[in-house]
Amino acid sequence: MTWWSPASLVTTLTLIISFLLIHPSIAWRPWPNQTNNTTDLIFRSSKKYEGSSEFVKLRYHMGPVLTANITVHIIWYGTWPKAHKRIIREFINSISATNTRSPSVYGWWKTVGLYTDQTGSNISRSVRLGEEKNDRLLSHGKTLTRLSVQSVIKAAVTAKTKPLPISPKSGLYLLLTSEDVYVQDFCQNVCGFHYFTFPSIVGYTLPYAWIGNSGKLCPGMCAYPFAVPDYIPGLKPVKSPNSDVGIDGMISVIGHEIAELASNPLVNAWYAGQDPVAPVEIADLCEGIYGTGGGGSYTGQMLSDRDGATYNMHGIRRRFLVQWVWNHVVNYCAGPNALD
Ligand SMILES: *[C@@H]1O[C@H](CO)[C@@H](O)[C@H](O)[C@H]1NC(C)=O
Ligand SMILES: *[C@@H]1O[C@H](CO)[C@@H](O)[C@H](O)[C@H]1NC(C)=O
Ligand SMILES: *[C@@H]1O[C@H](CO)[C@@H](O)[C@H](O)[C@H]1NC(C)=O
Ligand SMILES: *[C@@H]1O[C@H](CO)[C@@H](O)[C@H](O)[C@H]1NC(C)=O
Ligand SMILES: *[C@@H]1O[C@H](CO)[C@@H](O)[C@H](O)[C@H]1NC(C)=O
Repeated sequence: MTWWSPASLVTTLTLIISFLLIHPSIAWRPWPNQTNNTTDLIFRSSKKYEGSSEFVKLRYHMGPVLTANITVHIIWYGTWPKAHKRIIREFINSISATNTRSPSVYGWWKTVGLYTDQTGSNISRSVRLGEEKNDRLLSHGKTLTRLSVQSVIKAAVTAKTKPLPISPKSGLYLLLTSEDVYVQDFCQNVCGFHYFTFPSIVGYTLPYAWIGNSGKLCPGMCAYPFAVPDYIPGLKPVKSPNSDVGIDGMISVIGHEIAELASNPLVNAWYAGQDPVAPVEIADLCEGIYGTGGGGSYTGQMLSDRDGATYNMHGIRRRFLVQWVWNHVVNYCAGPNALD
């Protein structure tokens, strides 16, 4: 496999470094364009929308995908209550939990497992939690830029005590920031992003993602539908499955980013559009879709538990609401709670 071919890496890196500083690259925004018209929101979705296949030209660009068993390493940046960490760990552990109730997180990841590299190897169905690092005292301050995020990762993998392991082929690094931390572009249409670290900064090329807790700063933007934006009057938020709007909102963004990291770790594998600077990836295509009928600004059909909380999949001991991802075999968004 030509996984980490230095030549292709250098080309990709040069291309991408030169653009990174000009354009925000990979971003995520759960909410479509602003509108004041709730009726319009509901009617814009047709029963079978779920992402339109007509306009989507998702292509494979010959780069690697994560075919080796995946290990997710977490950096907890800022103050993280134990209960919050537990919810996030259990979500990650649920991805490969075969014995959970259907519809399950395991079933959700099956769609990601449909993507292959040029050798025909599928993305691994085995995702496990790796090591964790606390950066409680905010080593790089309360405001991070896209580049200083990489310095936080560097600090974690080069720490004198218990550094995070360096595993470029199977490791994914998640930088999770607490609700009092601001990362460049956070809340301005961005709830998280993924990329890979530069050898010049970190010493290695490691696929990573940042996801912020939007609980205080912009839940209507990044924890929808557990909170709704102020500009849409009359739309009611739904109850979150783990009783924390910020964390439950993060779960879907974490799912979004992990799915894209696995299918496009070096931003040269699976994406739509001509432009590697603004690739539209397998989760971007299904932004805001959580169930059958979803599309436009309608989330699609979700499930309710006995306490009235909304979810669409079961994990270990918990329920989660996670957006769907693009299924390139059938050419529409797919999720484990699909009704057909
Ligand atoms: C949203 O707005 C952008 C810029 O105004 C426009 O290009 C895009 O087509 C709009 N999307 C939808 C779904 O209306
Ligand atoms: C929505 O309505 C408010 C108040 O009526 C108005 O100020 C705002 O410009 C409207 N926004 C859009 C996108 O139409
Ligand atoms: C809202 O959108 C619907 C469907 O597009 C339309 O019939 C209705 O007139 C709109 N209402 C307002 C107040 O603009
Ligand atoms: C990958 O994970 C599967 C399922 O958990 C396991 O059976 C297999 O031995 C693992 N392979 C490696 C190389 O660790
Ligand atoms: C691997 O991907 C192919 C092509 O999408 C798919 O047909 C096959 O079912 C996948 N295998 C697994 C184990 O998911």
